[in-house]
Amino acid sequence: MTEVYSVPAELAKSAWIDAETYAAWYERSIQDPEGFWAEHGRRIDWIKPFTKVRDVSFSGDVHIRWFHDGSLNVAANCLDRHLATRGDQTAILWEGDDPNESAAITYRDLHERVCRLANAMTALGVAKGDRVTIYLPMIPEAAVAMLACARIGAIHSVVFGGFSPDSLAGRLQDCASSLLITADEGLRGGRKVPLKANADKALETSGSVRNVIVVKRTGGAVQMTAGRDHWYHEITQAAAPTHQPVEIDAEDPLFILYTSGSTGKPKGVLHTSGGYLVYASMTHQYVFDYHEGDVYWCTADVGWVTGHSYIVYGPLANGATTLMFEGVPNYPTVSRFWEVIDKHKVTIFYTAPTAIRALMREGEEPVKKTSRASLRLLGSVGEPINPEAWTWYHRVVGDDRCPIVDTWWQTETGGILITPLPGATPLKPGSATRPFFGVKPVMVDAEGKVLDGAVEGNLCIAESWPGQMRTVYGDHERFVQTYFSTYKGMYFTGDGARRDADGYYWITGRVDDVINVSGHRMGTAEVESALVAHPKVAEAAVVGYPHEIKGQGIYAYVTLVADEEPTEELRKELVNWVRKEIGPIASPDLIQWSPGLPKTRSGKIMRRILRKIAENQFDALGDTSTLADPGVVDDLIENRMNRA
Ligand code: PRX
Repeated sequence: MTEVYSVPAELAKSAWIDAETYAAWYERSIQDPEGFWAEHGRRIDWIKPFTKVRDVSFSGDVHIRWFHDGSLNVAANCLDRHLATRGDQTAILWEGDDPNESAAITYRDLHERVCRLANAMTALGVAKGDRVTIYLPMIPEAAVAMLACARIGAIHSVVFGGFSPDSLAGRLQDCASSLLITADEGLRGGRKVPLKANADKALETSGSVRNVIVVKRTGGAVQMTAGRDHWYHEITQAAAPTHQPVEIDAEDPLFILYTSGSTGKPKGVLHTSGGYLVYASMTHQYVFDYHEGDVYWCTADVGWVTGHSYIVYGPLANGATTLMFEGVPNYPTVSRFWEVIDKHKVTIFYTAPTAIRALMREGEEPVKKTSRASLRLLGSVGEPINPEAWTWYHRVVGDDRCPIVDTWWQTETGGILITPLPGATPLKPGSATRPFFGVKPVMVDAEGKVLDGAVEGNLCIAESWPGQMRTVYGDHERFVQTYFSTYKGMYFTGDGARRDADGYYWITGRVDDVINVSGHRMGTAEVESALVAHPKVAEAAVVGYPHEIKGQGIYAYVTLVADEEPTEELRKELVNWVRKEIGPIASPDLIQWSPGLPKTRSGKIMRRILRKIAENQFDALGDTSTLADPGVVDDLIENRMNRA
């Protein structure tokens, strides 16, 4: 029996949303979505108020529009509108990689920095609709750059600093960015990341980029190309400290964020302005029960959607103090997270299961020697959290006092869709619990039949919500194909889930060829194409397998070209090759040399079999009679790499 953690009585009283309010609002959001969202759409400042709420179709001519005759400026919502009431309040609390480095940036200060960069970018010729790629470490300039784009209506594309020059180049080219904002070097866990050098390599093949702005972070030596490269501190110093925000239509794009899918190269998920901001700010307020005076910390990187919605846009639109952390959980010691919580009196803490599992391995002492008395709420995101990690998080980190919000969502959804609300929802460890307002989850079977009651199936969402992605940048057909063709008239998430008798959702993981490594999405096809690009590799197939810390690990079956011998050295070479091609997050954990791969007579690789062998479940292979050469399976089983 799953233990149920009831809502603390105090919290039920003090929270924005209690159980009764949740039930009433949810009901209304489903029965009268127009009315519900018309009301909540007004939580942000509009330049021209909207009169239309939504115009959506999930079939035929697929289109999604929210508040579409309104106009606003997202950066003004995150900055200008707070100046009169909270200009001197800390907006960004920055904690450096080095524990002796931190900074508090007020709303007034952040506003000025954003205005200066917006002016500097305008002077470089960047205008509304232009694409700007941001390849920065976790420093305040990352948020400044995003907001400066929003201020002038340029579309930002943030690329995670851990991605390789090739991955950066692919993303620069896909959206034809004219400006790249980067830093000399990043700093993580005491180690330097050569961002500018990576950028220089990427720029060799990215002809659209006319200007590069370089933040001096470490002071390390970098090459500056005259006429193209500009120091951030120089051009912002020379720019005016005030700027009139540009009027932006609700449906004008705010950002592109590349994410992996089951096929092909990463796709540019496009989010627009009005609906996204309404949804990000509303979920931030209610899911984290954000109140005036809270110190809120989300440990994600701005390179991922969590950093967009829940470090920058949601919290700043709500006038919150948002902590931005440059470092890693285990540097200089494994107590770092808890020490930062004590140092800055963090009240709300949002992290990923992979970090919790890694820290759990270190025992309770590194946690217990810190106070954490300021904490009142914990959050989890990115992958399913196993009940063991959940209860450890609750008992050890939260001292049995802090509810945990296990938030399920995706890059595509823009904000949290399934989650507890801390003052309303009794918790079950491992369950993301119930839908947020306006979200209508549907369980379907493989044939597309809608399943009622307590069932397991594929998770779809039946109605649109304001934060939903609008298209794949430059490829609307791919958008329609990926999300709306599997199940007619519904958004298909790519996740499997179970719904229990209480209507709670338990996300079981991806049902497509996407693996979730430490909460980072990786397409198996991407890793495969990196592997086969190596001259000694003839063929490769990549699947996920259960990994104690990472959630899933990357398991690669590799067939070498004729006359190549498998060696330990070559194994290392291939791992490094993938790191270089994509980035360290794509490193295969296990490589199995495979003389052959199980294929059907028509030549299709049977991944189901490869997955089972990688999971060490080879006695459950199912039907192998359709294989062209059933013998290869025996060899793969015999030489399997995961015997756990
Ligand atoms: O499989 C789900 C998993 O992460 C996927 C989305 O990945 P990404 O777009 O990178 O966004 C991650 C941060 C929002 C989902 O399809 N996932 C995310 N949150 C959870 C989760 N799985 C289970 N429980 C969660 N709370």
